[in-house]
Amino acid sequence: MEKAKIQELIQVAMKQMDYAYAPYSHFYVGAALLAKNGTVYTGCNIENAAYGPSNCGERTAFFKAVSEGVRDFSAICVVGGKDKKPARIAAPCGVCRQVMMEFCDPKTFEIILAMDTEHYQVMRLEELLPMGFGPDNLAD
Ligand code: THU
Repeated sequence: MEKAKIQELIQVAMKQMDYAYAPYSHFYVGAALLAKNGTVYTGCNIENAAYGPSNCGERTAFFKAVSEGVRDFSAICVVGGKDKKPARIAAPCGVCRQVMMEFCDPKTFEIILAMDTEHYQVMRLEELLPMGFGPDNLAD
């Protein structure tokens, strides 16, 4: 993906940190999920007093898209940090990687891990989840 598009996604993800509901961890995550049709689905983490029901920013974006009938994706950008100030890149948790595995091609799906528009790293899903178990494993 060209740099301008990456930076656009980073800006969208950074804005999403403002909507994150993280009163327990104070770790605010924003996500911007690019569908193959060009639509960008946003997400933020949403915590819960019971802790367990909390949802990560990445999955919020995926579930918004899938719930609207969109299942083809090319990239996601993730930004996160304590008190909305990313000190380092925030890599997706294992559960979110598995959700990506369900809907994305591990060889081509790009994960942009960003601190800001100038400091980021682009990874493929197969790098973050080697030998992942996906829908293909259940095929006859
Ligand atoms: N979190 C995300 O939203 N995405 C990640 O990639 C890692 C962690 C959230 C979950 C929780 O609300 C907070 O960050 C601290 O773990």
